[in-house]
Amino acid sequence: MQDKILDLLKRKEGYISGDQLSQKLDISRQALWKHIQELKEKGYEIIAVPHLGYQLISSADRLFDFEVAHGLGTKFIGKKIYYFESLPSTMDTAWELGLKGAPEGTLVLSEQQTRGRGRIGRSWVSAKHKGIYLSLILKPKMLPAQASILTLLAAVSTCEAIGSTLSMEAKIKWPNDILLKDKKLGGILTELNAETDKINFVVIGLGLNVNNDKKSLPPSATSLKEHKKEHLSRVPLLQEILRKIEENYLSLEKGEEQVLKGWREYSITLGRRIRVCCQKQEVEGEAVDIDTDGGLLVRKDSGLTAKVMAGDVVHCR
Ligand code: BTN
Repeated sequence: MQDKILDLLKRKEGYISGDQLSQKLDISRQALWKHIQELKEKGYEIIAVPHLGYQLISSADRLFDFEVAHGLGTKFIGKKIYYFESLPSTMDTAWELGLKGAPEGTLVLSEQQTRGRGRIGRSWVSAKHKGIYLSLILKPKMLPAQASILTLLAAVSTCEAIGSTLSMEAKIKWPNDILLKDKKLGGILTELNAETDKINFVVIGLGLNVNNDKKSLPPSATSLKEHKKEHLSRVPLLQEILRKIEENYLSLEKGEEQVLKGWREYSITLGRRIRVCCQKQEVEGEAVDIDTDGGLLVRKDSGLTAKVMAGDVVHCR
């Protein structure tokens, strides 16, 4: 009901009378008043003037499910959204939903994480109401060994959305870092529930520093606000990320090269001399390209090309 009230308030430039609202929504004036109080408690600034009615002055900067769903326009990404004020990690909640058979595109959002995690057991600082912390369930028809491409897909989609909504140029450091002016802005974590030759579901986690204060972040990290020098609305950015993910995912399903093209465009790894520390070995050479499964192709000094599927990249020069 609150989403419907907001929808009507947003459509109206000035006041809308209580009578009109309660008639349109088929609820009593008392019920309407109660909902309005609840919306105010959630952070919406709504004024009520006798004989004129209600007016929405400003929206809450919250990633409420109904805000994100409003005007999203996707086919399946975010059709089902779970919103939380706080969670240990959106990854665990999405994983459990995946085990229970949640449909593809199910999205878990949390305003805060108390045990947000990154790759290789690292933690992810997730200050309340500041960033975007999400996990998305996908069910791609691909082999488990090909799933790394989804990490790149999420990174490309995020860079595209940052470009189109904020005109800012984020970059990708292989495999999962989103950088802004050489500092870490976001990261992707991909977790797989699979059998030998079949993916049951994948959980893609994205953490993006939006309005996070510099002092709450590690020294090597940054936020969009730090560069824009203003508080940013998270909802339109998140919606655009979701739209881009869907567009790129559908293109990937058709066997198109859009994601690889996007990665080549946003990559700061390509063409650089790098050292990748994998679990057992270290590969050094020039990053020459990306493979269709998301593996990084590194031309070693010997002239041989190695494919690296995971690891930490150091840009040598
Ligand atoms: C990394 O750079 O190592 C990946 C960071 C991924 C962080 C996101 S925040 C939302 C989701 N929940 C988590 O606990 N982690 C991912």
